[in-house]
Amino acid sequence: MTVAFVTGATGFTGKAVVTELRQRGIATVAHVRPDSHDLAKWQAHFAALGAEVDTTAWESTAMAETLRRRGVTLVFCCIGTTRARMKAQGESANSYEAVDHALPKLLAEASAQAGGITRFVYLSSLGAGPNAQGAYLQWRWKAEEAVRASGVPFTLARPSIITGQRDEPRPSEAFAGKAVDGFLNVLGAFGATTLRDRYKSTTDARLAHALVRLALDPAMAGQVVLSEGLR
Ligand SMILES: NC(=O)c1ccc[n+]([C@@H]2O[C@H](COP(=O)([O-])OP(=O)(O)OC[C@H]3O[C@@H](n4cnc5c(N)ncnc54)[C@H](OP(=O)(O)O)[C@@H]3O)[C@@H](O)[C@H]2O)c1
Repeated sequence: MTVAFVTGATGFTGKAVVTELRQRGIATVAHVRPDSHDLAKWQAHFAALGAEVDTTAWESTAMAETLRRRGVTLVFCCIGTTRARMKAQGESANSYEAVDHALPKLLAEASAQAGGITRFVYLSSLGAGPNAQGAYLQWRWKAEEAVRASGVPFTLARPSIITGQRDEPRPSEAFAGKAVDGFLNVLGAFGATTLRDRYKSTTDARLAHALVRLALDPAMAGQVVLSEGLR
């Protein structure tokens, strides 16, 4: 039986992944961090979709035990923080290391330890790589490396900007998406279609659809999928 476990389920992409999984009739567990201030809200939201909620602590032995006990076969890691969030929550400048790197690493290692996982889908970002520019992308790359090293069967997804209706509006993200898409459409009209398809934005629902498709495709194990393959 296929059982999916979605971390970052309360985020923009994670929520869409839970919706996509349930639309496909896949048994789904939405992980909500144990210290969430909105647990009751999320319980109601996911119950309405027919998904269970899990609040296991971000601790490797506990996480491995949960994955094993629930018979999880697919893990989606949609975790991440932003500079704006760090500022708003008074988090330190090393939050990329503590969130964007440490949590995917812990989850991948716990998944390998649990056994039975057929795919670990890690939501990374376009631009992640050994020569990535900036702390955000460098920590994404280190997280990708940690997933590879864990031994769990993985697919790494590197989308471009994700647009759509967020609960908490991010005007700069929406503006960047529109501006970049406009520019790329002009380039595409002049024949630069590869560039356009690589960098144009995608929506949360479209990305979620692609992530679930990749997770279920045996041929996508061990693959890195760039934005044009995530639409
Ligand atoms: N947004 C984009 O345009 C874009 C583009 C390319 C790649 N990506 C990648 O995709 C990832 C997800 O993007 P998104 O826009 O869906 O993110 P998002 O809406 O900000 O969601 C982030 C998720 O991570 C969780 N999280 C954050 N800090 C945490 C912590 N300290 N402990 C436990 N959970 C924590 C959040 O939980 P709470 O709700 O409990 O805080 C939330 O579920 C990003 O991190 C990014 O690398 C995003």
